[in-house]
Order: sequence, then structure tokens, then C-alpha cells
Amino acid sequence: MNITFLLKDGTKKSVSFEEGQTVLQVAEKNGIKLNSNCEGFGVCGGCHVKIENLSDKLPEISEKEDDTLDRVSGVSMDSRLACQVVLNSSLDGLIVKLI
Ligand code: FES
Repeated sequence: MNITFLLKDGTKKSVSFEEGQTVLQVAEKNGIKLNSNCEGFGVCGGCHVKIENLSDKLPEISEKEDDTLDRVSGVSMDSRLACQVVLNSSLDGLIVKLI
């Protein structure tokens, strides 16, 4: 299963993931830097990303994630916290844009 990151410099990086990993874990494992200041606890907002496709397959936003996104600038309908999106097989081919 693969996920593609759209990096800040305009390039793309496609990497594999395993079920149960978060988007943040996959990024970090592959040397893609996000500002994960709270180390994946969903409270800092530094891992804010935009999901470019498969939005109907994403896990629901929790109250904690929603509260954190409320404090982040530049949030839109496709915003998520990379540390809170747990991947599964239905998300194969996911495209995630770094902010
Ligand atoms: S790492 Fe802090 S909110 Fe995701």
C-alpha cells in the first residue's frame, strides 16, 4: 500500500505504509519532516496537512483533533493532523500535501 506526499518544494514522494501506522509515522520513517512538536499527541497542530483525495475513506475527526485544528492557521475542509490519521487498506493511494 502506498501514500504520496506532495512536498513543500513541489516534488512528490511515494512511499509504502502498513495498516495501523499514522500518516506522521510514515512520513518520519521516510525522512519527511513535519513539525511534530507534541510527538503525535494531537495537541500542537504542527503536523497539519491537506488530504488531496480519498476524503470519504478517512477516519472521522476526533474532538481532540478538531479542537487542535481550530487553533491552526490556514485550515480548510481538507485539513487533518498527520498524527491522527491512522492508515488502513482503503487509504491505499492517499495523497497528502505538506503545508
Ligand atoms: S504532532 Fe502535534 S498535533 Fe500532530
